[in-house]
Amino acid sequence: MEDLYFIEIMEASKIWELVKDQKWQTEENISDLVALAKNISDVNGIIVDIGIGGATSACALALASGCPVYSIGEQVAPIAVNTVIRLGLEGRVFFCAGESDNVWKNWDRLVNLVFIDGLHTYDAVTSDAEKWSDWIKLGGILAFHDYDLYRNTVGKAIDEFYEKHKEDYKPLKTGFNIKAFQKI
Ligand SMILES: C[S@@+](CC[C@H](N)C(=O)[O-])C[C@H]1O[C@@H](n2cnc3c(N)ncnc32)[C@H](O)[C@@H]1O
Repeated sequence: MEDLYFIEIMEASKIWELVKDQKWQTEENISDLVALAKNISDVNGIIVDIGIGGATSACALALASGCPVYSIGEQVAPIAVNTVIRLGLEGRVFFCAGESDNVWKNWDRLVNLVFIDGLHTYDAVTSDAEKWSDWIKLGGILAFHDYDLYRNTVGKAIDEFYEKHKEDYKPLKTGFNIKAFQKI
């Protein structure tokens, strides 16, 4: 008989305890990410996380959803690898080394949630949003980090993206610094 194994779907408070040593994340951000990940009911759900950093967002999304997370970034820092190993997420968080544009060119599958936290310029956020939006399933989510902290660049790009695609997305309720939209 095949061995069965179960993936624990974790609550926000437990995930926060596991990642709070990484100082650039806040409890509110983790709680928002967890709430977004919990919208995924698809058994074949897939998440894309742009901007590996310390892999905190990628790991939080994996722990909250049970879905595989593809985390994209120019560099895979040792802290990111350590976080994935420490949390036992090898085989559930996959690093795609490269700029998001280059990974996007070779991407081939629909996605339930895209979290954009890569290069924080107006042009890069606009480009990431426009490109990755095409891969989001109906009912899927496009989310952004640093909306409030970078109002004139990241925030402006997000506002303009939503204005242009209002008929395709509805805003979701989130806390400070994360903005999210659901494809309708
Ligand atoms: C704010 S950090 C991401 C933090 C990460 N979400 C976390 O929770 O640890 C932004 C990351 O984006 C990466 N980055 C910069 N330009 C990029 C690009 N064009 N494509 C993908 N990643 C990029 C940077 O190397 C950096 O690791």
